[in-house]
Amino acid sequence: MAARTRGAALRLCATVFLLEMAFCKGYVEDLDESFKDNRKDDIWLVDVSIASEFGVRGYPTIKLLKGDLAYNYRGPRTKDDIIEFAHRVSGALIRPLPSQQMFEHVQKRHRVFFVYIGGESTLKEKYIDAASELIVYTYFFSASEEVVPEYVTLKEMPAVLVFKDETYFVYDEYEDGDLSSWINRERFQNYLTMDGFLLYELGDTGKLVAIAIIDEKNTSIEHTRLKSIIQEVARDYRDQFHRDFQFGLMDGNDYINSLLMDELTVPTVVVLNTSNQQYFLLDRQIKNTEDMVQFINSILDGTVQAQGGDSILQRLKRMVFDAKSTVVSIFKSSPIMGCFLFGLPLGVISIMCYGIYTADTDGGYIEERYEVYKSETESQEATEESRERRSQGADSL
Ligand SMILES: *[C@@H]1O[C@H](CO)[C@@H](O)[C@H](O)[C@H]1NC(C)=O
Ligand SMILES: *[C@@H]1O[C@H](CO)[C@@H](O)[C@H](O)[C@H]1NC(C)=O
Repeated sequence: MAARTRGAALRLCATVFLLEMAFCKGYVEDLDESFKDNRKDDIWLVDVSIASEFGVRGYPTIKLLKGDLAYNYRGPRTKDDIIEFAHRVSGALIRPLPSQQMFEHVQKRHRVFFVYIGGESTLKEKYIDAASELIVYTYFFSASEEVVPEYVTLKEMPAVLVFKDETYFVYDEYEDGDLSSWINRERFQNYLTMDGFLLYELGDTGKLVAIAIIDEKNTSIEHTRLKSIIQEVARDYRDQFHRDFQFGLMDGNDYINSLLMDELTVPTVVVLNTSNQQYFLLDRQIKNTEDMVQFINSILDGTVQAQGGDSILQRLKRMVFDAKSTVVSIFKSSPIMGCFLFGLPLGVISIMCYGIYTADTDGGYIEERYEVYKSETESQEATEESRERRSQGADSL
């Protein structure tokens, strides 16, 4: 693979990592026109800024181009995550697992992965379709029945299984609906450490996300207990709740406060509806598993009042909140800059207000105008003086 860079006029404003997957060796190239013609021969990982051919505008996106297909990367911006993504997407869509050893190896490597078991079938076709769409997020394998571990019992074949949370689950066409959407819902572990990226991705699943907000450094009983309550509910009540709920933990309340525009006291549990931006809070501490289960059930039967949402009022609140946090963060990172940016206009406004106020009280306005007039004439005098001096100087030349 030769690096192709021609000094063409039109540049796509992009940096490209040309990946040679077999040797894990890559080139970094700036793109030019020739890229459009040649890109189909290789696999490209593109860090795009503005490249209209691929339908990207403004926000930097990482895309992997493989033949005619373009895959968007939406995960965390870390080297390891991006490399893993590139490996996954550039390899075979569905990887065969020929032996038990291979199966065990994969089980050690991946926390969540999908396996098709059986021969050719319409289910396999659907599996391939789903994989070509969702390879961006997760791993797809195929295996024969002999290769899967002994603890797996299959009522019928062919079958699609997900291995995660130290167990496995079988896709049921009648109960679970469309295969792609089942995979999309099941591609997350039952219990996760949450961050902004993950919450954004969970939006696709349409699930409610129950998060324990704790301070990981705080070893007091309230924090450790809440963490284990959430883990327990995620594990022991899976059958009851996994269709509607995703469980997780978040360290610290900074992120969630800005998301909810609220000031939550830790430790607490918040349940987010990722489809409409509403959330649910309890006004009391959750003391045990039963408490949590009761809270979840009351959300499901509608007896707990939802807060937030994406109404116009909420959006206005969001605008005010964002503006406020911008001001606060500017002051925090650079107080002088803050004073300059906000102090100067404020100063001008207060002088104007003062002027208007004093104008209404006992002729102060006139006094002030006189002052201004006086100082104006003074400065005029001064300039005249200096002009005189200058002309004198000119005379003496
Ligand atoms: C730990 O959490 C408890 C209960 O929320 C709180 O009272 C305590 O002040 C916290 N300790 C520290 C060191 O933050
Ligand atoms: C979550 O939001 C969706 C979309 O608005 C809505 O249909 C669903 O009922 C909500 N769930 C709960 C528990 O409020």
